[in-house]
Amino acid sequence: METETASDEDSFSAFPKHVWYKDELLYQLKGFWFRPHYLEGVQRVLNLYKPRPTDVLLASFPKTGTTWMKSLIYFIVSRSSGSLLDVKHPHELVPSLELQVYNSSAGQSSNAACCAKPRLLSTHIPYQILGEAVATSDCRVVYVTRNPKDTLASLAHFIAKADNDSDLLSPAAATDMFLKGFVPFGPYYEHVLGFWKEHVRRPASVFFVTYEELQESPGAHVKRLAEFLNCPFEGEEEVDEVVRKCEFGNLSGYAANRSSEVPEWIEAPYSSFFRRGTVGDHKNYLEEKDAERIDEMTKEKFHLAGFTY
Ligand code: A3P
Repeated sequence: METETASDEDSFSAFPKHVWYKDELLYQLKGFWFRPHYLEGVQRVLNLYKPRPTDVLLASFPKTGTTWMKSLIYFIVSRSSGSLLDVKHPHELVPSLELQVYNSSAGQSSNAACCAKPRLLSTHIPYQILGEAVATSDCRVVYVTRNPKDTLASLAHFIAKADNDSDLLSPAAATDMFLKGFVPFGPYYEHVLGFWKEHVRRPASVFFVTYEELQESPGAHVKRLAEFLNCPFEGEEEVDEVVRKCEFGNLSGYAANRSSEVPEWIEAPYSSFFRRGTVGDHKNYLEEKDAERIDEMTKEKFHLAGFTY
């Protein structure tokens, strides 16, 4: 993982900060934690991004199925050019606002996706921070989430990979960090609840789906998503084609998705976005007592808000 530089530290000295992984600092904005260079991107997004009513914005907490949703959205919206998924990584087809589009080194207009209509964009910025701009533009938001235990397991593996396959964080320490919210774009629970509440309030503008629902009945949710995006299917064959195309086994085989190249906008290789792609993999990482602590918090935070995991 990239370590913080003195200049990063200087520019954020007014923000609350907290150490998370290997002495790296996270900085807090409106109750959420960010790595310094992500926070710069977030600030640029808040200053520069003017959502259009035609924009499709995929929002998610990291490691909850963003890459899968990118491929689904891309294929549903641009069916005739869906074969680009054979040669390009989903993150290059649906770029992140804060990491790619408004990332200082990438430059905001360098990305072809920004000229497409509708613009297909993604973000990890919480609704509590980005929401006002999004709500007033009435663009369509798609939110994907995943059960917190698998999200944490996936994050631990991702961090290790980005850190050149160093040892996995101890499950107890990772659980502590996660439950206290000290992870990039955390706290996870508040992130999910921000979009969940907005989905309940404005279901026609904010689509909500879980990774587990997608695994369980992909066709049903792909159909629902296509209708939400105003690109309904003509028949079941089309639905099956999208589902098959975006299946883990298919997508993870393409050279662009197996690549060990590290893009300029994140420290991890392209291949790190495809690991196992299953439900319940936390059992291979978390101890039972850690899983129980997470379950307790999940009940406390989600069930009260009418969202069940
Ligand atoms: P695992 O680490 O559990 O395997 P994100 O895209 O938000 O970073 O999330 C990454 C997680 O989604 C990883 O989970 C990855 O393997 C999984 N994933 C990526 N593409 C997928 C697909 N097409 N189908 C199912 N899971 C996928």
